[in-house]
Amino acid sequence: MSTDTKTILSGYAARTAENLKKYNKLLPEQMPQKTVVDAMDHSLRAGGKRIRPALVYGFCKACGGSEEMADAAASAIEMIHTFSLIHDDLPAMDDDDFRRGQPSCHKAFGEAAAILAGDALAILPFAVIADDEMLPAQAKVKLISALAKAAGRDGMIGGQIIDMENEQRTDVDEENLRNMYRHKTGELISVSCVMGCICAGVTDEGKLSAAADYGYKLGLAFQIVDDILDVTSTTEELGKPVGSDEEENKTTFVTLYGVEKAQEIADSITAEALGCLEVFGGDAFLKELTGMLLKRKN
Ligand code: IPE
Ligand code: IPE
Ligand code: MG
Ligand code: MG
Ligand code: MG
Repeated sequence: MSTDTKTILSGYAARTAENLKKYNKLLPEQMPQKTVVDAMDHSLRAGGKRIRPALVYGFCKACGGSEEMADAAASAIEMIHTFSLIHDDLPAMDDDDFRRGQPSCHKAFGEAAAILAGDALAILPFAVIADDEMLPAQAKVKLISALAKAAGRDGMIGGQIIDMENEQRTDVDEENLRNMYRHKTGELISVSCVMGCICAGVTDEGKLSAAADYGYKLGLAFQIVDDILDVTSTTEELGKPVGSDEEENKTTFVTLYGVEKAQEIADSITAEALGCLEVFGGDAFLKELTGMLLKRKN
């Protein structure tokens, strides 16, 4: 990755961290509900790669928009993603004790507070977008609609239930996995790209659907790489437990095809994703980010 891309990426991450702090500030009158605000803050602050906000900013810029126009949507998607991780780690789900190099939310604050912190992070983003002062009302309605669909029963949450039910099945095939990954991971990544376009004022259906397709392909490759890292990386490097998939009896691209073939599949889906960027003038930042995610170590 070029120094330019690295600098842009860390700039977007820092901007997102600042905005998240601002959106989740504890006011004196909120002292009685401090625990839930602290639990939200714990998971938001721990960081992570901030890939989804980077996609919002990256697509907004590629479509001629400013960072200010993308701020609310970038923080909103990171809140939804953080909610998905807090709930994903709960004992009733993947039962993982570490996340982003820190104790998982339920390990630090207990299950009830973690459930509520996840709930709060699922709802706050819609107020953040609605209250934004940079964007016209029409764009805000489009953002809220797209984000609600991508996160809910027809999106990430739908994918998570397929994932949980697959643990009890012995007949999970590639078609099932592709559908589950499209929902649990692809939807939030795809909507990040679409939201970036909406923030920039894009209404052209061709552009919006190229951004969505790019995101679905990137999301699929991203989840296959996540499966590979679960067996090839270390807990220190990942910041979350390795071997979690095997422990929870998950079928993944690695259990179906082995690490090498799974990597080849991720390579070829990434190449398809790059093809979708042509509509955006082959934006250099987005291209490099795409390649980087395939080769990432955490
Ligand atoms: C983890 O997402 C969950 C998956 C969809 C694989 P990330 O790998 O983006 O997690 P963070 O945000 O960097 O912690
Ligand atoms: C990620 O699935 C999907 C969501 C959290 C929505 P995983 O269960 O593979 O994610 P990690 O590996 O725990 O980050
Ligand atoms: Mg999971
Ligand atoms: Mg998990
Ligand atoms: Mg995983």
